[in-house]
Amino acid sequence: MKQLMEAGHLKLAVLASGRGSNFDAICQGIDDKVLDAEISVLVSDNPNAPALKKAASRGIETLHIDPREFSGRNAYESVLVDELKARNIDLVVLAGYMRLVGKVFLSAFENRVLNIHPALLPSFQGLHAQKQALDYGVRISGCTVHIVDEGMDTGPIILQKEVPVYDTDDEEALSKRILREEHQIYRQALQLIAEGRVWIEGRRVFIKNSPGD
Ligand code: GRF
Repeated sequence: MKQLMEAGHLKLAVLASGRGSNFDAICQGIDDKVLDAEISVLVSDNPNAPALKKAASRGIETLHIDPREFSGRNAYESVLVDELKARNIDLVVLAGYMRLVGKVFLSAFENRVLNIHPALLPSFQGLHAQKQALDYGVRISGCTVHIVDEGMDTGPIILQKEVPVYDTDDEEALSKRILREEHQIYRQALQLIAEGRVWIEGRRVFIKNSPGD
């Protein structure tokens, strides 16, 4: 069994393509001192991502890297990795980052790229997870924080939170209810890592009561 990270203050990079509400929730966790971390940089592949503005207004460094300016994913990811390494990033947090992460990125940050998904994985991977859940007719959906591997929403699961589906729900209502829980479990998962309590063996993640357990 391997410890994901030793206990200590986390230097995070957040990658976001859009709205940035998870980014905001993580910032709030840091401000409220329930998360022992700092966000060194917010990176976006989308120049119009509201997340970029949110970061700038918090005084956090922002970086727009346009994947279309590179010959392919490897070239794009090498530059991304260089930028993150230059800032001594411990952990990369995907928060609405709309791209698959490839080998170059994952080998530079092995077990150190996290994602949040608005469903109880392995159900409803990919886009429009909340609509998939409604269309399928599940009574319970939720959200999942997981370690990123090369698949789409397939990596080892750190935390999950269930959310009920109501008869009156449409995609928007369910998404909103799930999002509230996303904002909680993402920062909880990060804090567990900061406390050195997250261990991994194969696909299974274990949360220890204290780092020495
Ligand atoms: C969230 O629903 C998250 O689960 C998914 O993308 C959405 C991002 O929302 N991966 P936001 O940009 O954090 O508001």
